[in-house]
Amino acid sequence: MATSGRNGARPNRFLIWGGEGWVAGHLKALLEGQGKDVFATTVRMENREAVLAELERVKPTHVLNAAGCTGRPNVDWCEDNREATMRSNVIGTLNLTDCCFLKGIHCTVFATGCIYQYDDAHPWDGPGYLETDPANFSGSFYSETKAHVEEVMKNYNNCLILRLRMPVSDDLHPRNFVTKIAKYERVVDIPNSNTILTDLLPASILLAEHGELGIYNFTNPGAISHNEVLSLFRDIVRPSFMWKNFSLDEQAKVIKAGRSNCKLDTTKLTTKLGEYGYVVPKIHDAYRKCFERMKAAGVE
Ligand SMILES: NC(=O)c1ccc[n+]([C@@H]2O[C@H](COP(=O)([O-])OP(=O)(O)OC[C@H]3O[C@@H](n4cnc5c(N)ncnc54)[C@H](OP(=O)(O)O)[C@@H]3O)[C@@H](O)[C@H]2O)c1
Repeated sequence: MATSGRNGARPNRFLIWGGEGWVAGHLKALLEGQGKDVFATTVRMENREAVLAELERVKPTHVLNAAGCTGRPNVDWCEDNREATMRSNVIGTLNLTDCCFLKGIHCTVFATGCIYQYDDAHPWDGPGYLETDPANFSGSFYSETKAHVEEVMKNYNNCLILRLRMPVSDDLHPRNFVTKIAKYERVVDIPNSNTILTDLLPASILLAEHGELGIYNFTNPGAISHNEVLSLFRDIVRPSFMWKNFSLDEQAKVIKAGRSNCKLDTTKLTTKLGEYGYVVPKIHDAYRKCFERMKAAGVE
């Protein structure tokens, strides 16, 4: 398999899949800022010939797969478009991983932790879900495809699977979790694991460059409730902000697919990153810093 540029091996070259997506854009900017050799592509993952040709053309050492069918305007779309969802999230994702395997390329998959829901053994103030726990959330077809593909993809020995949850950027991009909940008419109030991109995306590059493999829960440590997030947002970014809550039962009446609520255990991730001297801030601290960056950038 391709290795990092140390010890005379060929220098790292990153190819980002899903090139026009939100996470992909952040990855590209990050890698360019680090002065790395980076390319992006919009080739469809399920098109085997085109994928192989793209890998041959760019000759990456590392693929960062940030492509996936997330539904528009949201995952409810996947309920009514099951074949298209499977084509991307199952067939396409596996195909890209397999093509990378055949060509000896390390493949990092930006996956989801929205495959769990709280249960008696995992209440919000109890232990979080481990990477080895079987998925137990089947409330949405989107999550189902992601859980199934992970189950088989983890057997590829060129593959690093990073489970993001409710990603948050330092701006108010429409895909930012904060932007979404700030715009809802009513919002539930449940603690969840969240991924602050400024903290975690550099870690993804670090893990990829070190050739790490397997599954990692890829969130900041801890869980934070919607009301805690919105209170911090109000206190730091938008003093006039107000919101209303509703219950899970009331929420169920206005959405088609269920939404996962869970806390992930991040011990495996923080221990591994500790080997490289990289620290991921706990979620409450991370949100505070994120909103301070937003404020400093003039976001209102
Ligand atoms: N944002 C979240 O809340 C969140 C949370 C956890 C995990 N994730 C995962 O992280 C990844 C990136 O998410 P994102 O928020 O950046 O999503 P995004 O903005 O929707 O970007 C995904 C990109 O993937 C492309 N794509 C979809 N199917 C493809 C296929 N079969 N072949 C090639 N490209 C394809 C899309 O292009 P088209 O629009 O042209 O199809 C889009 O540009 C996804 O896999 C998502 O499931 C996201």
